[in-house]
Parts: sequence; C-alpha cells; structure tokens
Amino acid sequence: MEKLASLLHAYNIEPPFYAEPIGSGLIHKTWKVRTAATEYVLQQINHNVFTKPGDIEYNNNLLEGYLKQYHDNYLIVFPLADMKGKKLVRIEGFFYRLFPFVKDSHTIQCVETADQAYEAASQFGRFTSMFSGMQVKKLRITIPGFHDLRLRYRQFLTALKKGNAKRITFAKEPIQKLLRYSFIEEEYRFIQSHPDFKVRVTHHDTKISNVLFNDYNEGICVIDLDTVMPGYFISDLGDMMRTYLSAANEDETDFEKIIIRKEMYKAIKNGYLNEMKDELTKTETDSFYYSGKFIIYMQAIRFLTDYLNNDTYYGAQYENQNYDRAGNQIVLLEQYLNMEKILSR
Ligand SMILES: Nc1ncnc2c1ncn2[C@@H]1O[C@H](COP(=O)(O)OP(=O)(O)O)[C@@H](O)[C@H]1O
Ligand SMILES: [Mg+2]
Repeated sequence: MEKLASLLHAYNIEPPFYAEPIGSGLIHKTWKVRTAATEYVLQQINHNVFTKPGDIEYNNNLLEGYLKQYHDNYLIVFPLADMKGKKLVRIEGFFYRLFPFVKDSHTIQCVETADQAYEAASQFGRFTSMFSGMQVKKLRITIPGFHDLRLRYRQFLTALKKGNAKRITFAKEPIQKLLRYSFIEEEYRFIQSHPDFKVRVTHHDTKISNVLFNDYNEGICVIDLDTVMPGYFISDLGDMMRTYLSAANEDETDFEKIIIRKEMYKAIKNGYLNEMKDELTKTETDSFYYSGKFIIYMQAIRFLTDYLNNDTYYGAQYENQNYDRAGNQIVLLEQYLNMEKILSR
C-alpha cells in the first residue's frame, strides 16, 4: 500500500484510492486503480521477459508521436507521464506505468462468436495499417528473435543434442512429428528472402484478451503494445488463428476438445482484410493460410524445446506440462493441415 501511494504520488494522485488486480495477463502484474475522480490501469513490467523496459518506453513514444502527427483520431492508449514527464517509474527495482482505464471496456478470454473474431481481426489489421507510412526500422526490438521461426527451429535442434536426455527419449514421437513438419520452416525462409513480404509495424500478441470490447461486443482498441516490433503480417494473423480457431486453449489436455471452427477462420480473414486489403501485396494475401501453419508450428516447437530444456522459459505447474502443451499444438496443427482445402478455398 505504501508502495502504491508513493507510485501514485509520482503522478500527483493522492489518497483515497483503491486498487484491485485485473486481467489474466500472464506477463505483467496489472491492477485497476480507482480514485474519486477517475480510473487507471497500473502495470508492473515483467523485466525477466522484457529485459530493457526503456526500449518499450522508447517504442511507445515513437508510436504515440507518429499517431499524433498522422492519425490523431485513432483510439489507442499509451502510458501517462508522471510529474517529471516520465512514462516509466522505477521503484525498488521494479518498473511501473500507468494508463487511463478505457471507460466501459472489458476483455474476453476465449473467442465464442465469429463476430468477436471479426472485430478483433479488424482491430489488429487497423493497428498495422495506421503505421503503414512509418519507418518501421526505427522501432527497437523488445524481444530478439521473437517470431523468427528459423531461430526457433535451430534452438529446437540444439535442444535435441544438448537437452535433458531422459526427456528426449520420452518425447520421441512429438520430436519426430515436428522434424517431419520442418517444411513449414523452409517456407518461412522463402518468405524472409521474398521482396513482396513487407516488414510492417506488427503487434505480435494478437490474442483476444489484448482487444478491449464495449458493451455491444464491438472492438474499441488494441492494448498490450510491448511486443510491437518490425515483423511480417503472418505473425499477427497466425496468432489469431492459433488462439481463435479452437475453443480449447494450449493448456487443454483433453485433445478431443481441439476442434477447428471454420467460421472463425473466415471471420479472422474478413476482419483483417477489411482493414489491410489495400496494404498487402498479392504474394502476402496468398499466404493467408500459411500464417496459421507458421505460428502453430512455431508454438509447438517452442513448448517442446522448453520441455527438453527443463522448462526454463515457460515454467511448468506439473512435470509434463510443456510436453502436453506441445502435444496440444501438434494436434491443432494436424487438424489445420487436414483442413487446408476447406479453409484456403
Ligand atoms: N487501458 C486499459 N483499459 C482497460 N483495461 C485494460 C487496459 N489495459 C489493460 N487492461 C486490462 O488488463 C489486462 C492485462 O493487460 P495487458 O496489457 O494485456 O497485460 P499482459 O501483457 O499481462 O497480458 C487486459 O487483458 C485488460 O483486461
Ligand atoms: Mg495481454
């Protein structure tokens, strides 16, 4: 409480105020703070994942400045400045920032209707399109190699050599499968070297809980801008496919529940295209279906790699959790591959 008081004091916010944890975000710690006059979102940055919080601040300022100049009406929230003009406050070794709470907004954890998928995809598409004139290279890399499938694949091969020997034997089946699907990584290398694939301002974390909705289930804006970096559109589109197509998430251990909902694919595609159709090249549009393969495969690889490396990145609440998560993503990938004709029609 004392810490909260001194934090808010930096923003000239004095008691009485009331704070409660919100959101199911896995990365940062987030609270809703109420004062008599208004509501805020306070966030403690996870500096194990984001080792240079100053780079996030730098990117936020860049994005905010660009929008102010070119799209002043576009709704999005950036951290507030404290009394000294700082948008990142350091207290006892932790970094915090304060946002205005977007009034009458809520988030959802699981996509239930095609309308929600459409709204979210439009929001993420609009986000990238807003920055189409920005020099994307100016953005700092907040997580190096985040969606670099080539790197993730190499890390997987290294884990096969240097990882936990017992686990390597135990995971023989998923390992073989992921090696068999390495054509997905080859296609990524082709994309990397293809001039028609533009590097754009990409959100890189397009799960549904990063979209604020209003009471009529319309998307208000995207949030969680820490992973905004230069990237390919397949990252944002693919992560929507990975997380919206099935109602079961990556922690589901009953794999029978992993079922791809065709209508969600359509909604993601239509929502995204609605905002991005004039931006994308023909070659990019032709890679719509690939984007799902790309992200689902990468996530399966990352879970299995972490399992072989003794869960050092994702952690685990039980012994084989990352093995199960990899298995879950492999089932999703296989269903996705089986539906290629139906989906990419
Ligand atoms: N400006 C905001 N207005 C309203 N709710 C917000 C705002 N920012 C964050 N939230 C809520 O806090 C949750 C976690 O925030 P987020 O930035 O997504 O953190 P994480 O990186 O941990 O996912 C969101 O899912 C949303 O429910
Ligand atoms: Mg989030």
